[in-house]
Amino acid sequence: MQATHELSDKQFRKISDLVYRHCGINLKDGKEALVKARLMKRFRAIGIDSVESYLELIDSKAGDHELNQMIDAMTTNKTSFFREIEHFKFMREMVLPQLNGRRIRFWSAACSSGEEPYSLAMLLREYLTDVDRRDVLILATDISRRMLEKGSKALYPDDSLKDLPSSYLQKYFVRSRHAACAYQVADNVRSMVRMAHLNLMGSWPMKGPFHVIFCRNVMIYFDRPTQQQLVNRFWEFLEPGGYLLVGHSEGLSAITHKFKYVRPATYRK
Ligand SMILES: C[S@@+](CC[C@H](N)C(=O)[O-])C[C@H]1O[C@@H](n2cnc3c(N)ncnc32)[C@H](O)[C@@H]1O
Repeated sequence: MQATHELSDKQFRKISDLVYRHCGINLKDGKEALVKARLMKRFRAIGIDSVESYLELIDSKAGDHELNQMIDAMTTNKTSFFREIEHFKFMREMVLPQLNGRRIRFWSAACSSGEEPYSLAMLLREYLTDVDRRDVLILATDISRRMLEKGSKALYPDDSLKDLPSSYLQKYFVRSRHAACAYQVADNVRSMVRMAHLNLMGSWPMKGPFHVIFCRNVMIYFDRPTQQQLVNRFWEFLEPGGYLLVGHSEGLSAITHKFKYVRPATYRK
């Protein structure tokens, strides 16, 4: 960082406190380098030349907008189609055969750029023969408007699709007419997914209940009390017998909850 971009301990604490209070992401321990790098990117984007001026901007009347942009810049959005394939295998073998009612509700609770909810929609199309006669909705939410915008466009570079079975590419994607070397998710898959902005730390305006909640690879960024609170809220939003799927590097062993352990990263109400 240049001299004007030096981040003092006090400034780092202020920024990490703001991020923690707003969205639960815990940047406090050993994350200075990451915060600095992401702030620098944001400074370049808006032409700010010092941490001090940036903090003044955050404290100003226009601060709310910039705070949201900063939170967005602090998020880690790594994702991919059919990530952690064991969950999709479990869905196919154990969950889909049990969905007997007309109404099917899934929630991808930190969907990033959409690969997770679209993978679920493709799975449903592939293995639920009467999917078009059911009332199916996959709610896909995230705090990052940048990622939701990407997800809504549903445009993915060839590279990100190389591990998909070629039959999926043929059935569920169309070559983009607008972007080079990219495919767009087909309309009959996109229409099953509703993208919306939602901060997991805020209020949840939807009613639920859901048959399955995917909350994968986001709780690792939260501290234990935040995880605890979140998992209890998920319980309230699940159908009896519904499933909560977390990332395989997460697990609920360190927190108190009412879920039944089914298999790694898979819990049942
Ligand atoms: C690493 S991605 C995981 C994406 C996907 N679930 C997966 O496993 O591939 C984590 C996502 O969590 C989102 N996130 C972080 N804090 C959040 C919060 N408080 N509310 C909603 N989304 C949040 C980030 O914006 C990011 O897109």
